[in-house]
Amino acid sequence: MFSTPLILSFSILLTLPIVFFFLGPTLNPQPLPPISASDELDDLRLFHRATAPPSLPSHLSFSSSPKIAFLFLTNTDLHFLPLWNRFFRRAKTPLYNIYVHADPTVNVTRPPPDSVFGDRFVANAKRTFRASATLISATRRLLATAILDDPANDYFAVVSQYCIPLHSFNYIHRSLFTSKNFDLTSKSDPDSSGLSQYGVLKHKSYIEIISKEPRLWKRYTARGRFVMMPEVPFEEFRAGSQFFVLNRKDALLVLKDKTLWRKFKLPCFRADECYPEEHYFPTLLSMQDPNGVTGYTLTRVNWTGTVAGHPHMYTPKEVTPELIYELRESNYSSSYLFARKFSPDCLGTLMRIADSVIFRD
Ligand SMILES: *[C@@H]1O[C@H](CO)[C@@H](O)[C@H](O)[C@H]1NC(C)=O
Ligand SMILES: *[C@@H]1O[C@H](CO)[C@@H](O)[C@H](O)[C@H]1NC(C)=O
Ligand SMILES: *[C@@H]1O[C@H](CO)[C@@H](O)[C@H](O)[C@H]1NC(C)=O
Repeated sequence: MFSTPLILSFSILLTLPIVFFFLGPTLNPQPLPPISASDELDDLRLFHRATAPPSLPSHLSFSSSPKIAFLFLTNTDLHFLPLWNRFFRRAKTPLYNIYVHADPTVNVTRPPPDSVFGDRFVANAKRTFRASATLISATRRLLATAILDDPANDYFAVVSQYCIPLHSFNYIHRSLFTSKNFDLTSKSDPDSSGLSQYGVLKHKSYIEIISKEPRLWKRYTARGRFVMMPEVPFEEFRAGSQFFVLNRKDALLVLKDKTLWRKFKLPCFRADECYPEEHYFPTLLSMQDPNGVTGYTLTRVNWTGTVAGHPHMYTPKEVTPELIYELRESNYSSSYLFARKFSPDCLGTLMRIADSVIFRD
C-alpha cells in the first residue's frame, strides 16, 4: 500500500521542520538586514572610549549633585515634546541631560533651538528596526554618549516618544537619589540603613527582570536550539522591558559586554519570537550584577488586551487626573515615575493637566 518513495518523501517532510529548527539561521533568508561591520566597528570604538579608565566606580564618582541622563529612543517625531519641555524647564536645579537617538532614515522634525531638546540629538544615530538587535545598539550608543558627555550623569533613563513623566523632575530626582524609602523592596535588606560603606545612598538600577514567562523558551531558541550556549544557559535567560533606569556602574557593565552581545546580535529565524532588546539587558544584568538591580521597572505599561506585542495605547478620552494617579500606583516603589504608551493626540489633554496633576508633587 505504501510505496517506499512515498514513505521516504513523507519522512523527509517530517524532518524538514527539525532541520530548520537546528539550521534555521543559516537556511532562512534573514527577515531584517544584519548590523553592518562598519556600524559595529563605530560602536565598538565608542563603547571602548566610554569604558576606558579613568571612569571611576560609581560610588567614588558620586558627586553631591548627580544628574539624570534622559535617553530618548525614537523613530518618529517626539510627540510629547511640549510636555517634556515643561517638565525640564520646571526643574528647580537643572540636574539633567537629554540625549535623543532618532533613526536617521526617518525625517524627524528637529525641535526649535530654544527648546531644551534643541541640540540634543546625538550625531552617531543609526537605523533601528522594531524587535531587532538594532534597538540594543541604539540604547548602548545613548548610554555611551551620555557617559562620555558628563561625568555627573549618574542615572540613565530610557524613554520613547510614547512615554510621559508621571511626576515633576524634582520628585523624580529626589526619588532616585535622596529618598530612603522609594524602593519598597529594599526594606527587607539586612543592611537597611540604605547607606553604602562610603556613606552615600546605595542606588540600584531599576530594570525589570522576569525569569518565569510562558514564551521564554521560544524566545531563547529563536536563533536556533543551541546558539546561546555556552554563554547563556536557558536557566540564566531573562525577559524585561527595555525602558529601564540604570546606574552608572550598570551602564558601564552593559558597554563593556562583548560576550553576550555576540549571541544576542544574531538574527532570529522566528521574527515573531525575537525581541532581543527585551532579553539582552535583563539577562546581562541579572548575570553580572544581581544584587545591584531591583528587578522591576519604573515605567508603567498596560498589557491588558495586548495586540501583536503592542501594549495598550491610551487615547485622549482616557487621559484624566484619575488615570495619572492610578498609573503611579506600584507594588514595588513609592510610585511609578513614567508611563507608556500614549497616542500622539493625547498631547493637548496632557498639557491641560500637566501643572495641576502631573507635575504637582
Ligand atoms: C522633512 O520634513 C520637513 C518638515 O516637515 C519637510 O519640509 C521636508 O520636505 C521633509 N523632507 C523629506 C525628505 O521628507
Ligand atoms: C488597561 O487597558 C484596558 C484596555 O485594554 C483598560 O480597560 C484598562 O482600564 C487599562 N488599565 C489602566 C490601569 O489604565
Ligand atoms: C499589585 O499587586 C496586586 C496583588 O498581587 C495586584 O492585584 C495588582 O494588580 C498589583 N498592582 C500593580 C499596579 O501592579
